[in-house]
Amino acid sequence: MKNGVQALIGAQWGDEGKGRVVDVLAREVDVVVRYQGGANAGHTVIVEGKKHVFHLLPSGMLYPNRVCVIGNGVVLDPEQLIAEIKGLDPSPEDIGTKLVVSGSAHIVMPYHKKLDALSESSRKGSSNARAIGTTGRGIGPCYVDKYNRIGIRAEDIVDERQLADKLRINIEEKNLILDKLYGEQPLDFDELYEKALSWGRFIKPYLGDSSLEIDSALRAGKKVLFEGAQGTLLDVDHGTYPFVTSSSCVSGGCCTGGTLGPGRFDRVIGVTKAYCTRVGEGPFPTEDKGDIGERLRQSGAEFGATTGRPRRCGWLDMVGLNYAVRVNGLGVIALTKLDVLSGLDELKVCTSYEIDGEGTDRFPSSAAVLDRVKPVYETFKSWKDDISKCRSFGDLPSEARDYVKFIEDKTGVRVGLIGVGPGREDTIFVDF
Ligand code: IMP
Repeated sequence: MKNGVQALIGAQWGDEGKGRVVDVLAREVDVVVRYQGGANAGHTVIVEGKKHVFHLLPSGMLYPNRVCVIGNGVVLDPEQLIAEIKGLDPSPEDIGTKLVVSGSAHIVMPYHKKLDALSESSRKGSSNARAIGTTGRGIGPCYVDKYNRIGIRAEDIVDERQLADKLRINIEEKNLILDKLYGEQPLDFDELYEKALSWGRFIKPYLGDSSLEIDSALRAGKKVLFEGAQGTLLDVDHGTYPFVTSSSCVSGGCCTGGTLGPGRFDRVIGVTKAYCTRVGEGPFPTEDKGDIGERLRQSGAEFGATTGRPRRCGWLDMVGLNYAVRVNGLGVIALTKLDVLSGLDELKVCTSYEIDGEGTDRFPSSAAVLDRVKPVYETFKSWKDDISKCRSFGDLPSEARDYVKFIEDKTGVRVGLIGVGPGREDTIFVDF
């Protein structure tokens, strides 16, 4: 692999199959960095045929002699992290792999999860607001505290004094909200303080300086992979706001959340399915609520890795994909789940939008406008054959090759990897 620093980004609404691509890349890189999001993610890692699902740990954790970094941009649920570390088999010590948790990563406290659930249910019950369909992992409320500059960071839970001071401020504020807004019981300082200190004792050996760690690896000629969670259209700035997550999922997020300057990146890989899915609420122009959507859901096993929710499904949206190419600076595309389209009568791809009677190929920033989009489709011939045994581009039926070439033509970005089945070997590499 020629590239020293790579970023792997979801080009849709998450669940693009980033895990499969990380699985390929993690074998060749020395350092894997998570830079945003938290336990809302569900990354499937397959090592020696065994499937593991991580919500917080970087996907390199099961490979020997790696450095895995949880960057400052991540919001860390300590109970989840501790459970994942304890569940590691083989243990990182046995295989010489090191976990480094940035001291500046913010801690998801139990009250963040509680507030996440309460605000979702109040949005559901309100005539003025639409629910977001969050994962309930406390992500939004934790980032709120970060940006409000009252958050508790990983470095605070190993410092009794600092923790006590910060926790008092938070408990005072949260108890007001819980009581006055939701009529809920107040939080108990002692209980939370002891809990947080016990997490701190566990996490202390892993705390470090992610910037120094990545920099010294690069100076030693090592290869680094930044592993995105969620996807471009769920990004807090660039996604379908407010139906987004609360972090910077795009490639720019690697710099701020993973502590490396933009000049040091070699390439950005965008992962997209051959169709589209979305979990949770919000606009989805190409959603198919009928038979096609159901067929894609069943064939593609489209159920959330974190919440088990059925994913909404629909045709590939080139307007959204071209937007992802632009905001991330994608240099190569990994196209996953092409096999799921096998056997359909015909295929459709959305190539432009009609909004209030006007045609456009621009992805609108307003969710209200996106809600009014009528997708304009081009129709393609499908292929009947099972493509899961294809191992080179030339092995694919001509209709499948045309579909891939169309994506390359419309985006101007080459497709370097094609997923043709669920197994790790069911992959076509085209000079990846
Ligand atoms: P939150 O990140 O839990 O606040 O959820 C906000 C939105 O992002 C909801 O629509 C979730 O369904 C969606 N979301 C969060 N994490 C993921 C993910 O890993 N895959 C797909 N959707 C996600």
